Amino acid sequence: MKTLREYIKEAEEKGVAIGHFNISNLEGLHGIYNAAKKLSLPIVIGLSEGEENFVGREEAVALIQAIRQRDNYPIFLNADHHYNFESVKLALDAGYDSAIIDAVKLPLEENIILTKKCVDYAKSLNREVLIEAELGFIGTSSKLLDEIPEGISEATMTKPEDAKYFVEKTSIDLLAPSVGNVHGMVKGGNPRLDIERIKKIREACGVPLVLHGGSGISDEDFTDAIKAGISMIHINTEIRVAYREALEKYLKENPKEVAPYKTLQPAVETIEKVVEARLKLFNHIK
Ligand code: 13P
Repeated sequence: MKTLREYIKEAEEKGVAIGHFNISNLEGLHGIYNAAKKLSLPIVIGLSEGEENFVGREEAVALIQAIRQRDNYPIFLNADHHYNFESVKLALDAGYDSAIIDAVKLPLEENIILTKKCVDYAKSLNREVLIEAELGFIGTSSKLLDEIPEGISEATMTKPEDAKYFVEKTSIDLLAPSVGNVHGMVKGGNPRLDIERIKKIREACGVPLVLHGGSGISDEDFTDAIKAGISMIHINTEIRVAYREALEKYLKENPKEVAPYKTLQPAVETIEKVVEARLKLFNHIK
């Protein structure tokens, strides 16, 4: 099986993007995997620190490895937005394929030191793991937002020259820039992406780019962003909304049902539909 690095390279060459979807539970994993398998596409499952605390670090690794081995399928596990060296190390030691050290709240030089420490640790392991870092601010939560979070503006978007400097200093494998994307879904619509900025950042930094905050972005912006140099896209809020709405509907229609494998089945199917639509868009499948 190809490595995650090889799949990302291949995605860039083909002009498509790999889907990265977050999970909080088994229903999410089943829905996402069903969609990926149907389309025969590689897939990345992400767990933020909060999601990982809920699912269990080793449990998450065991779930992904079980599917990968049983089906010989390219399903990968990412430690999404881990905020310190220790939590990145614990995830990599447990068997994650990649990790995101999110140190955007630190001043640039401190972000560089912490990120480099994670990169050096990843390189010391005797298997390939990827380290991604974020530069520029895009908000923090995968939730429904009344307005664009405070602190997001053109001034907090990633500058191509900073991206170049950051990648040179840290040797990260992947960069998550701020290009108009925000975590979460904004009531009046998410902001448009700065496609020109994506192009310039990709040229300047020399590593594949990951678009976070995918929920709520228009189809047109996704397509243009992939063309401009995005190789992986993160989606979380859309899955959370799908899960909740499907569960609420089922419970309302079946107030006496108590078997979780019945009450939660529609959530699996709804997540599958959301993920399938996104994967088709990211891979130009009609
Ligand atoms: P959304 O919740 O906006 O889709 O963002 C997800 C994400 O970027 C996780 O890293």
